[in-house]
Parts: sequence; structure tokens; C-alpha cells
Amino acid sequence: MPAPTPVEAAAAIRAHHQQLAEGVVGRVASLRAAAREGVAFLAPRDLLVEYLDREILPHATAEERTLYPAADSGPAALLVDAMRAEHRDLVGRVGELRSAPDAVAALSEASAIAALFLSHIGKENDRLIPALLAMPDVALGELLVGMHELVG
Ligand SMILES: [Fe+2]
Ligand SMILES: [Fe+2]
Repeated sequence: MPAPTPVEAAAAIRAHHQQLAEGVVGRVASLRAAAREGVAFLAPRDLLVEYLDREILPHATAEERTLYPAADSGPAALLVDAMRAEHRDLVGRVGELRSAPDAVAALSEASAIAALFLSHIGKENDRLIPALLAMPDVALGELLVGMHELVG
């Protein structure tokens, strides 16, 4: 299968981000509902943690192997540096969520994770992808070949 064009690649990354955002937001909503109704929070917390471990953290790792190095030099270098810092923040917060001892702690960590992730992918969609598309030596489509963590 040929590599997607840069425009197709950009659309695929954004569509996958949307899918991931829905996956996080939906699971945080389940946790919020459990906390609000005073029912057991452990099951929805663990479903969220499992999704973060299975989908979100591997996505971040894959970006750090492909998209981020491609943008490391040039005008987007500082952005990429900040995005790596957000990944580290995300990893730390997932660790906190994993051991959150009660519903209030779990929900506040989960809400912070959702806000961080939405803001983070907004910057990838609106700033990092355009920066990559503007770099003449970056073939965005070729970077994505075989990268299921980036395009679903
Ligand atoms: Fe990222
Ligand atoms: Fe991303």
C-alpha cells in the first residue's frame, strides 16, 4: 500500500486524535457519574487507566519516535520540547490516577488528565501538524506507515 499523501496523513492523525479524545472523555464521564451517584469508583477508574495504558501512552511513545524527532530542528523545536514535557506530565498523572485512593482523588486526577490531553492534541492538530506540513524535508505520510498508534 502506498504511503498516504501529507494531507491524508494530517487528516488521519487528526481523526485518530478525535477518537482518542472521545475514548478519554467518555471514560472520565463514567467515573464522574459513579462519583456523583456514590457508587463504586474503582471499576470506572480502572477502565480509564486501562484505556490510558492501552491507547494513550503508546500513542505518546509512538509520537516521540516519529513525529516529534521530525520536528525537532527548525521553527517547531520549542513546541516539540513543550509537548514532550506534557507527555511526561501525562505519564505522571496516569500514575497518580492508578493509585487514587478515593472517588474525589480519582475524579480530580481524571479531569486533569482529560483537560491536559484535549489541550495537548489541540496543539498537535493546530500547530505541530501544520509545522510538519510546512517542512519541505518531512514526508508526513511516510512517517505514518505501519504506525497504528498514530492513525488507529
Ligand atoms: Fe502527543
Ligand atoms: Fe497525539
